Amino acid sequence: MGGERYLERYLGQSGVIEWDRSSFGPVEADPAAVRAAWLLACIEADSTSQAAKVERAGFARATDVGTFLPQWYEEEQEHGRVLFAVAAAGGIEPPSSARLSSGADQRGQPPGWVGALLGRVPGAAAAYLATAAAAEYVARCMYSWLAEAYAGSPVVSRLLRDLAAQEARHLGFYRAAAEARLVRSAPARQLAPSLFTRFWRPVGVDTLGWSIWFDAFGGLITDPVLQRRFLGMDRMVAALPGFEQVAPLRSFLGAHGIAVAA
Ligand SMILES: [Fe+2]
Ligand SMILES: [Fe+2]
Repeated sequence: MGGERYLERYLGQSGVIEWDRSSFGPVEADPAAVRAAWLLACIEADSTSQAAKVERAGFARATDVGTFLPQWYEEEQEHGRVLFAVAAAGGIEPPSSARLSSGADQRGQPPGWVGALLGRVPGAAAAYLATAAAAEYVARCMYSWLAEAYAGSPVVSRLLRDLAAQEARHLGFYRAAAEARLVRSAPARQLAPSLFTRFWRPVGVDTLGWSIWFDAFGGLITDPVLQRRFLGMDRMVAALPGFEQVAPLRSFLGAHGIAVAA
């Protein structure tokens, strides 16, 4: 594998976001959005354990993923710092670094399905990359929504739009890397969709647990306008070769008795 255009495209646009905490003061924003920003910061900071899982599974040896991952990791860590600052501007201070690192230590435990299956089961890499693309899709939606919620501060709103744009670039890489693997392997096309369906979980559940997750994000997925945006993730996933019948969010909403917006 090498010389993929999607990797070159990503690298051509990558780079940690430039920002300056002193350029924005306190901001009036919907408390639900401020809390979401804080929790999203925790989720972003947890990209450490994601990166560790992929490294341990040896997946980072794949040329495209191995080149992408260090840059992606830097960018996600920066998102965590930006979002803690954004939450602080809305009135919620970041947790102590001791608390954050002890949480990260626990979560950095042996890899789950990623480590167990990558390199051993056809389609596992494509399934993993598709779940990552789905997560980036949701991150993009979240930061666009937060940018609207923080409209009272043009500086913060702009910063959140920059974050959303960066998530869109991550999404582009993961989606194309998944597609490249699916296109060239019939077994991958056959197995990846069921692996994806089996292992997909809403972004942040692994970090926050179900009860905090529902408390923070349940209101967003039941809001018809936001839900329609999130459902775009299903269309993105279904466009991958072999994934035509896969609709993670729709299935999730159905399983939890949540109405699907028309
Ligand atoms: Fe991010
Ligand atoms: Fe991302």
